[in-house]
Amino acid sequence: MGVWNALEMLNTLVDNSDPDTELSQIEHCLQTSEALRRDGQPRWFILTGLIHDLGKLLYFYGAEGQWDVVGDTFPVGCAFSQSIIFPEFFQNNPDYNNPKYNTLYGIYEPNCGLDNVLMSYGHDEYMYQVIKDYLPPEAGYIIRYHSFYAQHRENAYCHLMNDYDHEMMKWVKIFNPFDLYSKSDQPPNIQDLKPYYIELINEYFPEEICW
Ligand SMILES: [Fe+2]
Ligand SMILES: [Fe+2]
Repeated sequence: MGVWNALEMLNTLVDNSDPDTELSQIEHCLQTSEALRRDGQPRWFILTGLIHDLGKLLYFYGAEGQWDVVGDTFPVGCAFSQSIIFPEFFQNNPDYNNPKYNTLYGIYEPNCGLDNVLMSYGHDEYMYQVIKDYLPPEAGYIIRYHSFYAQHRENAYCHLMNDYDHEMMKWVKIFNPFDLYSKSDQPPNIQDLKPYYIELINEYFPEEICW
């Protein structure tokens, strides 16, 4: 399946974790990318905005519900931060009382780098794996960690990050307002925008990619 077809397929999903479900998924993707385009951001960044949520396609491929596809992401194997959305629910997670996993570092070394940290699985990690060979590392990083709010909004996991992460996390912080605040704009005209985005997609991706 090609990237544009994937966007059209995703359009049938309503994300229950999204505080604003007025817009369809493709409209949210296009609003994010259009906001980046208006801001004069580079082409790879505009494309990143367009596809950042495409991993939600997982929902159609054997997901057990939206809980394993959408929502924020966080490290596992170490203590759950209070900065994670709805932290009170972790009390029901067996890891919460497991002394191997419930300390600040848990199974990790200080500043081991997020590449060595297991994150809760969702649309971010899935989409990162799909696109990592086609887009610049910054794009992959944004997609991989865009739902890691405990870090990019609250800086709760600096102790697991290395210098590379600190450098790259800046991009995630730049990206976040485009993801959030573009949602209040007028819905984009999908048919008018399609030719521009087909060209942009073709610049980076082959006609078909593996999902
Ligand atoms: Fe997302
Ligand atoms: Fe999004």
